[in-house]
Formats: sequence, C-alpha cells, structure tokens
Amino acid sequence: MSTQEINKRYSKLAETSCCLSCGGAINYAEPQKGEICLDIGSGRGTDVIRLSDAVGETGFVYGQDAAAGMLKKAREMAAKLLVKNVEFIESQIEVIPLPADSIDLIISNCTLNHASDKKAVWSEIYRVLTKGGRFVVSDIYSSETVPPEYANNPEAVAECWAGSVTREVYLQTLNDCGFSSVEILEESKPYDKGKIKVSSFTIKGFKL
Ligand SMILES: C[S@@+](CC[C@H](N)C(=O)[O-])C[C@H]1O[C@@H](n2cnc3c(N)ncnc32)[C@H](O)[C@@H]1O
Repeated sequence: MSTQEINKRYSKLAETSCCLSCGGAINYAEPQKGEICLDIGSGRGTDVIRLSDAVGETGFVYGQDAAAGMLKKAREMAAKLLVKNVEFIESQIEVIPLPADSIDLIISNCTLNHASDKKAVWSEIYRVLTKGGRFVVSDIYSSETVPPEYANNPEAVAECWAGSVTREVYLQTLNDCGFSSVEILEESKPYDKGKIKVSSFTIKGFKL
C-alpha cells in the first residue's frame, strides 16, 4: 500500500478512539529495564508509551508508522506525558530505518498483514534484532488464499483482511527469513472479515 493510501484510512482513524489491535502482543512481550524496543505500526503510540515505562530511562522505544495523523497523535501524547525515551519514525514497514543488531524486542499489533512484501518486513525484523532478541507479533491470517480482486485492492488491504496470507504461508515466510522456531501464544477461531474468513494470532520468536 502506498503512503497515500495508508494516510487516507489511518490518519482519519487516528482521530477516533476505536480499537485497532487484533491481539495482546504487548501483554506477552515482557519488556525488561534497559531494553531497546520497536513497535511496528505504532498507531497512536499507546503501546510505545507503555513499553517506555517498562524499559525505564536506560531503555528506549521506537514507534514506526507511515500515517502522518497517527504519528502526530503519538508524538503529542509522548510530549503531554513528558516521555523522553521514545522516538516515532515515519516509514513504510518494508524498510526499518535502524541499524542491524540494534533492537532487543520488536512488537507489532495488527499491522504486518498490510505489507505488500511480507518477506521484506520479516527480513528487516531479523536484521535489526540483536542476537537473542525477540519479536511478539499479533496479526491476522486468512483461512484461504485471498482472491486477487481483494488482495490487490488497497482499500480492502487497509481494512486489515485483504492483505492477509494463510497460516501456512505466514509461518513459512518466517522460517525463510531465519525464524525457524515460532511459538503461538494465542489464536482465535476463524471469523468473518470483509469477504473472507480470517483468524488472529499472537506469535513469538527469537533471533538465535
Ligand atoms: C490496525 S492499525 C494498528 C495500530 C496499533 N498497532 C494498535 O494496535 O492500535 C495499523 C497501523 O499500521 C500502520 N500501517 C499500515 N500499513 C503500514 C505500512 N505499510 N507501513 C507503515 N505503517 C503502516 C497504520 O498507519 C496504522 O497505524
């Protein structure tokens, strides 16, 4: 999806209080004092602020998002709460503009399904994690391959379902990118979303 398409949907949603998550990634993340963290698709910045408190002043948390409206809300909240150990980065998720081996913990909630190149995203996650670093990701997968008329429709992709891939393809992509052992922490039954059935899950893995 282009930045323009992301902005079209998400800068408007930044002004609402609707829940945009699809799982409890942060609740499984177990952030430690002094850790360097990244939230991919950080939205209004709520999880970044929670992580910043947990890692303390010796830690640091980056939030990454492509929607200007989301970044504005997140930066405003950090300023209002006088949170110093955070930075919000404007970027598409296929590129993580941070050095290799620099992040101890990556979280993401209901964002990676939007990526047009999921292999690029997971390769970037692998690249920026430190050795022994971990990810905890909540996301959506589809019960069947999404028909091309929806998968190639940016508006349907922005609605968090048409960009999803099957569970098998999802886990194979992780494996191909270096995450050979992935733990499923929570998983829903299939439910209707748009024109297809999807499930949500929260997964965890380490860069060994
Ligand atoms: C469903 S919302 C989730 C927001 C937040 N993680 C939460 O749980 O509330 C998805 C977020 O990912 C961002 N996003 C979607 N596609 C993106 C992309 N390709 N690159 C960067 N950010 C993207 C959107 O702007 C939005 O803030």
